[in-house]
Amino acid sequence: MNITSITHMTREQMTAILDKAEIYLKKIQAKEDIPETLKGKVILNAFFEDSTRTRVSFEMAAYRLGAHVIPFSVASSSLKKGEAVIDTLQTLGAMHPDAFVVRATQGDMPRLAEEHIGCPVLNAGNGTYEHPTQALLDALTIRNYFGRLDGLRIAICGDIKHSRVAGSNILLLQKFGAELRLVGPEDLLPTTRDENIVYETDFAQGIAGADVVMMLRIQKERLETKLNYTDAVYFSEYGLTQERLQKHTPTAMVMHPGPMNREVEIAGDVADDPEKSLILKQVEAGVAVRMACLEAAILN
Ligand code: NCD
Repeated sequence: MNITSITHMTREQMTAILDKAEIYLKKIQAKEDIPETLKGKVILNAFFEDSTRTRVSFEMAAYRLGAHVIPFSVASSSLKKGEAVIDTLQTLGAMHPDAFVVRATQGDMPRLAEEHIGCPVLNAGNGTYEHPTQALLDALTIRNYFGRLDGLRIAICGDIKHSRVAGSNILLLQKFGAELRLVGPEDLLPTTRDENIVYETDFAQGIAGADVVMMLRIQKERLETKLNYTDAVYFSEYGLTQERLQKHTPTAMVMHPGPMNREVEIAGDVADDPEKSLILKQVEAGVAVRMACLEAAILN
């Protein structure tokens, strides 16, 4: 099975992954032995873009299940020498990996990999499009805290337009019946609109009464034109502060996929608030979710 897009996954498939991940999360927390269901499998971890959390957590997930990982980065690959992407994929495929985890700026990389590599493909983020394992780990984090996803009011705030985290979360949360609000300045909201989603440029209105406030950084490396406001101005209008949380949505929980830009989209004391912030829970859930995803991809 490929895990390249939430569009292609049913609610049942995702629930099965979340249920399995929950079991793994408990085992990791309890430091229990984990059966090596992927013993002897070899996973190619190809990151053509920078990553801290996602790359390490895919590696950790693979090792926890007994698989071997070959990290492959563009800095040391022949793509730098001008090799065509398809040749690189076919070359890697000829070595018969058991799974291919790939992150790339190029939006069609997961599809090309599906066509040319000949093993299950897991998308670790493609351009501004999707980041399915991030949406799944966010879903597990929310489900573990609230006990459900249905009917929750979730405000995703910041650069929705260029965020693949938002892309996959919007698809997943809609499939699970959450109420979605997308909040940010007009130039960072998506250009195509969905009638089931609320779009809001006023930050206070957008977060008011939300159960979850999910903050996103501005994807400066993906902007078409330079922003006409500074980080300080952005923070004053769209930054999540303790004061704003208290005033507009005092019981909300806060999420952020990382990397965070403190005092740009989120105040440091909000990110670090153990009562409000689920940010490290997201990272913790990430390993367990990627274990369940690697298993589903390789063994199904
Ligand atoms: C995100 C990504 O790479 O899309 N990071 C992550 O995987 N946790 C978010 C981002 O870069 O802003």
